[in-house]
Amino acid sequence: MTAARRDLSVLPAADWADGVADALAQRIEARPHLVLCLPTGSTPRPVYERLPAALSRAGAATRQASVVLLDEYLGLPAGHPVRCDAQLHRQVIKPLPEPPATFLAFDVDGPDPAAACAAYDAAIERAGGLDLVVLGLGTNGHIGMNEPGTGPDAPTRVIELAPSTIAAALAYGADPPPGHGVTLGLAGILAAREIWLLVSGERKAAILRAVLDGPVTTDVPASLLRGHPGLRIVADDDAWPG
Ligand code: GLP
Repeated sequence: MTAARRDLSVLPAADWADGVADALAQRIEARPHLVLCLPTGSTPRPVYERLPAALSRAGAATRQASVVLLDEYLGLPAGHPVRCDAQLHRQVIKPLPEPPATFLAFDVDGPDPAAACAAYDAAIERAGGLDLVVLGLGTNGHIGMNEPGTGPDAPTRVIELAPSTIAAALAYGADPPPGHGVTLGLAGILAAREIWLLVSGERKAAILRAVLDGPVTTDVPASLLRGHPGLRIVADDDAWPG
């Protein structure tokens, strides 16, 4: 028996994606200038599929919102379908009835990825900071590309991908897969006003248990989110059977 937790919402798996899409649409309706950081990966995909309908139900418009990409691979050519900017454009931006005011991605096609990270941070600051960061959860506890070993002060930076992240990129069709990426750091995630950690499916159950009930440790970067006043973990009942 698990005690009720302030930071955890659990939805039946069949309703999870609709529930998250509706919650997102309601945020945009309440704050049309929302600065919203979004992840890629398989977890948010069903949410993104439902977003246009949810926006219409909520009467929400995205033309004043800013969408910020959470992380990106290095070494994939522009337009590569596995690139995170291409995925987010395909899955979120393009299906929207109106494009957002801004879509901020990393300029990884230039010669200097570290400069791209600095430009990304500066653009977020100019936008007034992140209102909401939506995250998926890696099976090793990573968030964005903040792999195990990442501390809470980690800045936006170039990182070496963990073997499981490289394998995932290969499975998505990046062959040869990238070995490095750039990511919003944990410091930037923790600076957001709200953080939603999306977790679905049985294969995330063990890591979600560790995130919620294990020690707060850099070995499990998502555990460092605990204690953030705006943290909301939205799991389905396959990932959190209770
Ligand atoms: C990837 C991404 C993360 C994503 C996570 C989980 O490596 N860098 O942003 O949230 O792994 O992916 P999935 O949702 O496909 O399980």
